[in-house]
Amino acid sequence: MGQDKLEVLLSRSVIERRVWELAAQISRDYEGEEPLLVGVLKGSFVFLADLVRNLSVPCRLDFVQVASYGSATKTCGEVAMVKDLGGPICGCHVLIVEDIVDTGLTLSWLVKLLGSRQPASLRVCALLDKKDRRVVPFEADYVGFPIPDRFVVGYGLDYGEKYRFLPEVCVLREAAFQEDI
Ligand code: XMP
Ligand code: MG
Repeated sequence: MGQDKLEVLLSRSVIERRVWELAAQISRDYEGEEPLLVGVLKGSFVFLADLVRNLSVPCRLDFVQVASYGSATKTCGEVAMVKDLGGPICGCHVLIVEDIVDTGLTLSWLVKLLGSRQPASLRVCALLDKKDRRVVPFEADYVGFPIPDRFVVGYGLDYGEKYRFLPEVCVLREAAFQEDI
């Protein structure tokens, strides 16, 4: 499976512990509410599944899929909606759940769009944050791990649709980019 291309950055137990902490914080912040968690497909699917199972408040779920154009590893800033929400969010407490904030372009675009639909509140929870790569200012309300500027895969994240199934977050070594995917 080419494991030599991968270096574990965040182990299963480290992720498990942090997801539990995030869920505890979110449960406290939304006490008495039933937030609508919006997963950004596809990368957030593993994180979202683990997060909701650790919440102690009830929640509802929906998904969006956005396309950020560019190469397999870099966004160029043009974002488009591939799959929109299943219904209106007017009056809902919306929490966007994303795998990673990189340039910030995708999430600032999505926050602006969903914010225009009159939610009662709108926050963002991202598992990973590459702060050094911001092109536009963007701060998620909940962040699992700040990470260095390395391309990562696993725990939902992919390179050319590969590696999403890995239970750890791994750095994809440079050599792997030169090979066929
Ligand atoms: P922006 O740059 O808009 O991008 O914040 C967010 C999206 O870019 C993808 N991305 C990554 N995907 N490993 C990945 O598998 C990475 O290291 C990485 N960095 C950015 C991801 O789809 C995210 O939603
Ligand atoms: Mg993504």
